[in-house]
Amino acid sequence: MMKTRKTIAALIAGALMILASVVGAAEPNQPSKSRTLVVYFSRAGEQYKVGVVKKGNTAFVAEEIAKQTGADLFEIKPKKDVYPNKYDPLIDYAKKEQSKKERPEYVGAVPNLKNYDVVFVGAPVWWGDWPMIMYTFFEKNNLDGKTLAPFCTHEGSGLSGFDKKLAKACQKSKVTKGLAMTGQDAQKNAKKVTAEVSKWLDNIKVPKASTKKANEVKVMKETAATDTIDPKKEAFDKENVFGQGKLNSGFAKYFIGDSYLNQLTPNESPLQLFNVTFEPGCRNNWHIHHASKDGGQILVCTAGEGWYQAEGEAPIELKPGVTVYIPANVKHWHGAKKDKWFSHIAISVPGENESTEWLEPVADDVYNALK
Ligand SMILES: Cc1cc2nc3c(=O)[nH]c(=O)nc-3n(C[C@H](O)[C@H](O)[C@H](O)COP(=O)(O)O)c2cc1C
Repeated sequence: MMKTRKTIAALIAGALMILASVVGAAEPNQPSKSRTLVVYFSRAGEQYKVGVVKKGNTAFVAEEIAKQTGADLFEIKPKKDVYPNKYDPLIDYAKKEQSKKERPEYVGAVPNLKNYDVVFVGAPVWWGDWPMIMYTFFEKNNLDGKTLAPFCTHEGSGLSGFDKKLAKACQKSKVTKGLAMTGQDAQKNAKKVTAEVSKWLDNIKVPKASTKKANEVKVMKETAATDTIDPKKEAFDKENVFGQGKLNSGFAKYFIGDSYLNQLTPNESPLQLFNVTFEPGCRNNWHIHHASKDGGQILVCTAGEGWYQAEGEAPIELKPGVTVYIPANVKHWHGAKKDKWFSHIAISVPGENESTEWLEPVADDVYNALK
């Protein structure tokens, strides 16, 4: 276990916090001209009232939206396909998943999500709500400022508050009126799907694509399911036993790149621990934890590889097992190496008159020269 010169790392008491922030999983370079995206989840197999189907009901609606708007398509596919193909076991499984508020992981990531202005999001109604995997998407990605258009298929309960639930999950997005169709219509009545989608697009004022463009439905799902799996990230995820957690935009302005935050302690705990994960190249700006007595911060490195540097000192390589004590009033930064994911737990050392001062970003030439 390595420590900085002044290391002591006495007590770990006080309330953690530090940073955190945002954004999306690795986004491969797949430029698309479209600024509209359809993200959907849908199940083939046995479905209520339609029997065993090769393509899920919601998929028909998703594809029709993409066709009429010229949008790109991204299918949410579970990383572990835990969902039974038979209806009765599926509803039992989904009920449990919902009551535990699980956030199942999905395969891949939307390439260049930041380039899309309008995102259609669709799924079957499961027990009166979005399937839990859709919340994974809502929470894992930065959808701030985007227009989100919700749609669903169901067998009786209609939109089931998808719009309100989406607005609650994505409070900095604009959520449009939703579209609800029965699974039976979606599966068996193509004309109705075309007409309902068209009417809805007019209603929410999303422009239709030209006829030529409308025929070119660009499907990213195959790419997403295969090419975007990053073996390095998968290995890191295994190592990152404290979990990547949620994208958090709260501190994004003090970071270069995307970071994630996983709260490790219950809200009522007086000492809060968060595992902070940095994507490759991500680092926070120079900053100072001020305190008139005690204070400062302790970093406990948990996975991957990163850097810590105090002003005027040599950078310190961060690896699992390394701890760093950052005394109060020392200007410093920390983050991932440029080609590695990295996580640490950050703990604020209690002190008097504490405040954090955020300063300039770590210059690219300084950061890129680190070896
Ligand atoms: C786990 C589960 C829960 C469901 N819960 C509801 C529900 O609460 N209300 C409803 O109207 N339909 C419900 N349904 C029916 C589905 O919403 C409907 O069959 C949908 O079209 C399936 O879409 P998919 O083929 O795209 O997965 C449920 C289906 C499943 C499998």
